[in-house]
Amino acid sequence: STYLVVMAGGIGSRFWPFSRTYLPKQFHDVMGVGRSMLQLTVERFKGICPPENVFVVTNRDYSELVHQHLPELPADQILGEPIGRNTAPCIAYASYRIAQRDPQAVIIVTPADHAVLREVEFQRIINQAVDAARHHEVLITLGIQPSRPDTGYGYIQFLDEDPNSRLPMGLKKVKTFTEKPNLELAKMFLDSGDFLWNSGLFVWRADAILHAFHQYLGDIAEVFDEGTHLLGTPEEADFITQAYTRCRNISIDYGVMEKADNVYVLPADFGWSDLGTWDSLHRMGHHDADNNVVDGDALLYDTRECVIKTPADRLVVVQGLEGYIIAEYDNVLLICKRTEEQRVKDFVADVKSKK
Ligand code: GDD
Ligand code: MG
Repeated sequence: STYLVVMAGGIGSRFWPFSRTYLPKQFHDVMGVGRSMLQLTVERFKGICPPENVFVVTNRDYSELVHQHLPELPADQILGEPIGRNTAPCIAYASYRIAQRDPQAVIIVTPADHAVLREVEFQRIINQAVDAARHHEVLITLGIQPSRPDTGYGYIQFLDEDPNSRLPMGLKKVKTFTEKPNLELAKMFLDSGDFLWNSGLFVWRADAILHAFHQYLGDIAEVFDEGTHLLGTPEEADFITQAYTRCRNISIDYGVMEKADNVYVLPADFGWSDLGTWDSLHRMGHHDADNNVVDGDALLYDTRECVIKTPADRLVVVQGLEGYIIAEYDNVLLICKRTEEQRVKDFVADVKSKK
């Protein structure tokens, strides 16, 4: 059967002041469509995974929030982490839990904070990957055509000739996987024209990913091997608490995808965006005639290229701004040049130290 693992434990700090420790980005209606990122993520897989096969992994502090956003999800399918250890331990936890039910299960791993514009095409590609993963011991990632030398992504180079011709059509063998290259490398990758972005959406069988953990992240596999018999019992939470203190902080990209030799990419084109930053919202959102993306009640004069997201009960009047982020949430109003948005992280640090 097919399972879904939603990774929903990130903080999304670049989306401040919307993303806050008490309410991270995935719990916000970032797209302005009346649904949180988390809800949109789970809904995207309706018809692919039955509800009893959906797991959400998040920090224990957010378990209750996940429950509020997904009330139909049984409590024992919300896997609570005591601390954030990045995506490798998160995926290990869910995979061990699922393997216990069905070692041959096909698992789809998805971030909780991506936007997808064309859902029908999205589901077609996912089904194609699920079919391929069911019959082969492969680690599949969906690859996106890159459009700029963004250093926040993984870059994938694939072989045109498939050495394993028995593999399903469309699947390309990965030659190199480079997580978060520096700008110089990212530019080279983009210019060369034969790299794809790693979407962070993965498809594999439970036994295939557990095998990879044993091969490349043996220390993490060992921790979970010791407690496999405790998963699904009343002792699970205690075991996970001590297991996480023993796991290092590492992403699946550095830990497995860069190293494994059975990684395949399925090129995909379904209007994808990692909604990681205000600029990404400007790219994905609905533009007015002056290229502003506005979510809120705004009266604009001589204002262009801005992204404006304000509370529903607020009227904002703007004159003469070009290329700015204007974002208000709770007690914070941010006004920042779009081209300087990487400084948001510094602002957050300064605000914290001011308290
Ligand atoms: N449960 C849990 N626990 N979830 C986590 C944790 C954790 O400790 N850390 C991150 N996540 C979740 C985030 O909430 C997000 O949904 C997803 O895992 C990916 O984490 P990010 O921190 O957003 O990763 P990234 O964007 O820097 O990089 C990844 O995604 C890119 C595409 O968006 C990588 O896979 C890149 O290679 C990829 O290009
Ligand atoms: Mg991300």
